Amino acid sequence: MTQYEKIQQELLSIPKIWLVTGVAGFIGSNLLEKLLILNQTVIGLDNFSTGHQQNLDEVKDQVSSEQWSKFTFFEGDICNIETCVEAVRGVDYILHQAALGSVPRSIADPITTNASNITGFLNMLHSAKEGAVKSFTYAASSSTYGDHPALPKIEENIGNPLSPYAVTKYVNEMYADVYARTYGFKTIGLRYFNVFGKRQDPNGAYAAVIPKWISSIINGDDIYINGDGETSRDFCFIDNTVQMNILAAVAEETVKDNVYNVALGDRTSLNELFDILVNKLNDNGAEYTKKPIYRDFRPGDVQHSQASIKKAILDLGYEPKFNILKGVEKLVDWYNK
Ligand SMILES: NC(=O)c1ccc[n+]([C@@H]2O[C@H](COP(=O)([O-])OP(=O)(O)OC[C@H]3O[C@@H](n4cnc5c(N)ncnc54)[C@H](O)[C@@H]3O)[C@@H](O)[C@H]2O)c1
Repeated sequence: MTQYEKIQQELLSIPKIWLVTGVAGFIGSNLLEKLLILNQTVIGLDNFSTGHQQNLDEVKDQVSSEQWSKFTFFEGDICNIETCVEAVRGVDYILHQAALGSVPRSIADPITTNASNITGFLNMLHSAKEGAVKSFTYAASSSTYGDHPALPKIEENIGNPLSPYAVTKYVNEMYADVYARTYGFKTIGLRYFNVFGKRQDPNGAYAAVIPKWISSIINGDDIYINGDGETSRDFCFIDNTVQMNILAAVAEETVKDNVYNVALGDRTSLNELFDILVNKLNDNGAEYTKKPIYRDFRPGDVQHSQASIKKAILDLGYEPKFNILKGVEKLVDWYNK
């Protein structure tokens, strides 16, 4: 039995109370769905700045009415400390996802990104510590590797941040580390590497590449590649990310004040990704014949990204079940439905 299977059995037999911030977003709503399927009690917090009621409605359709009755939603902003204090009351584990994602958004508006990602983060972290929750697992980011050239990325070796967004995610790690050392509070940062999966928003100027391209292929729209297409990323399917959150939250007390890469340990270029998506969707009835249009590199983007996932495997028993092809297959099934 894998560590993840063992933990799921334990949670089923002794259910816990979880707080998921950013619950109406892409990753948050997938965490909610999994936790409810495991019969957990879940508190959700979101201000709908980039999340959607529709994501919560879809989770409702995926679980039984009894499971759904274990979910309580607070509409509120993590920039308000009273909201955070209220949300953490009686909670065992926190999965903190609420933040404003996107490097370009942070370059266009660093002040708003800073408010949610640093002030809001500290409000949540402090409320969690004061509320004596068992652990605080938070969404960190691969952007923290910044300009460090080494591949694969190893947790200890980071460079200089390349965007305001990267600064905010690095500051999160510094605060979490200080809270662990100063107050003995269990914090775990998960450095996500390009997560993809169902309910990821395809719309807007700051959409991630996979949902945006899938939507363009389905609608027959042009696809733009920033740079020559040889930029590469470690694309991580959402189920692997959900697994890491659950493993980290319930991990032994010895795993404290730590950050982990959450990825596949592989990398795929944008040109390869384009072929994978077009082929898969054309197999499923799309008729996309356009070639990508190449344009300038975007400021703040790193050229290559690939994680080492050894630390997560050794410390937490992480076993990613989905490579990019399996993930895309599952995602296209979801779009078809
Ligand atoms: N998706 C990725 O590939 C990726 C990669 C690295 C890190 N992350 C991090 O993972 C987390 C989740 O990202 P996602 O892709 O699900 O994005 P998302 O935009 O779909 O979800 C974020 C959610 O947080 C909510 N939110 C934002 N600011 C808030 C605030 N001040 N108060 C309350 N709620 C607020 C939004 O409404 C949204 O529902 C973020 O912290 C993001 O920075 C994501």
